[in-house]
Amino acid sequence: MNLSKFGEKFTRKTGITQLMDDLGAAMAGGEMLMLGGGNPAHIPAVQERFRQRMEDILAEPSGFETLIGNYDGSRGNAAFIAALADMLRETFGWEIGPENIALTNGSQNAFFCLFNLFAGEMPDGSKKKILFPLTPEYIGYADAGLSDNFFAARRPSIELLDGGLFKYHVDFDALEIGDNIGAICVSRPTNPTGNVLTDAEMLHLDALAQDKGIPFIIDNAYGTPFPDIIYTDAKPMWNPNTVVCMSLSKFGLPNLRTGIVVAREEIASAIADINGVMNLAPGGIGARMAIDLVRSGEIMRMSREIVQPFYERKALQTLEWFREELGDIPCRIHKPEGAIFLWLWFQELPCTSAQLYERLKERKTLVIPGHHFFPGLENEYWQHKHECIRVTYAQDEAVVHAGVRIIADEIRKLYA
Ligand SMILES: Cc1ncc(COP(=O)(O)O)c(C=O)c1O
Repeated sequence: MNLSKFGEKFTRKTGITQLMDDLGAAMAGGEMLMLGGGNPAHIPAVQERFRQRMEDILAEPSGFETLIGNYDGSRGNAAFIAALADMLRETFGWEIGPENIALTNGSQNAFFCLFNLFAGEMPDGSKKKILFPLTPEYIGYADAGLSDNFFAARRPSIELLDGGLFKYHVDFDALEIGDNIGAICVSRPTNPTGNVLTDAEMLHLDALAQDKGIPFIIDNAYGTPFPDIIYTDAKPMWNPNTVVCMSLSKFGLPNLRTGIVVAREEIASAIADINGVMNLAPGGIGARMAIDLVRSGEIMRMSREIVQPFYERKALQTLEWFREELGDIPCRIHKPEGAIFLWLWFQELPCTSAQLYERLKERKTLVIPGHHFFPGLENEYWQHKHECIRVTYAQDEAVVHAGVRIIADEIRKLYA
């Protein structure tokens, strides 16, 4: 097969495709402890609410037929967008209307569009990059550029905390933003670490972006007001220079592929234009399933009262299990402030995290080795990149507990 540069780039076996293959194979085998993937939990109260909603749609005259039989516009389901704009304006005072929102087929798709809108080859021939001011960052960004050398990234500063915890911060002293940066992007809460950048850090990044006249992209896939998987105080932010990306996935609808971009009008329109070319229109089932919850504000209440406590309980429980099982092994864990993962740092790990991943896979336990989470720092040697793993706590308790025991056992052998 003669492939174009595009073809070669997007069919290359990358870290994430190899991991997705492992995940698929493991799912098919059925006996793996899946502490690797990012699938959200099946929360009974949320699923029950959506089951009811689906039954209501089916009972409406033409409900089923319009659900499956009509395209939305390229910006996405107009009624859902109007309800969401109202909710965000009324809840946070953001000065937005429907013209500021576009839907995408999952927020993953939004990042692909946004990154390539703002970086790559510019009309004057110059090249720009997307900057991750703090890595570790979301693995799913790593291959989303249309050209190579698409990302720039910085190491964090590390604050050691009591109780064997630590927290990453943006190292503003090292954060020079050159003219080759087209946009800044952070996930908050951060996948893989569960870090929630502080309000001060967000304001500082926002100010730097405004200063440079470049957009500040905030990946709010786990953030507020839904699914609100945040265990600390964190103010949401939006202004015409920020691009806030949200998703219905972690609230409980990952398979309906509904991403949401909230941005100034010209950016939201650009997303709609790309949707038209790439997809005609984003799928609308997620929007139809969630519209009542958005209109009533129930999506925020359920996030706060059901989704957030569900994951916080799991985070604390998993942390406790690791503490019990690891004993005096030199392992620090990133302070769990949100999202659905624990990030473990084994100082002076006697092998690489990739080797640890393989050893755990032999023992039917899947985690994600940490070195994949440094998009933009691929070519920079830093021992820390090879000392960390990501473990999800979204799975059933028995699975997580069994996985924690195997990880701890394997680690103990390694340090011995
Ligand atoms: C930080 C982050 N951003 C974006 C996504 C993409 O999610 P989706 O495309 O399902 O909205 C994920 C999925 O795991 C994620 O963890």
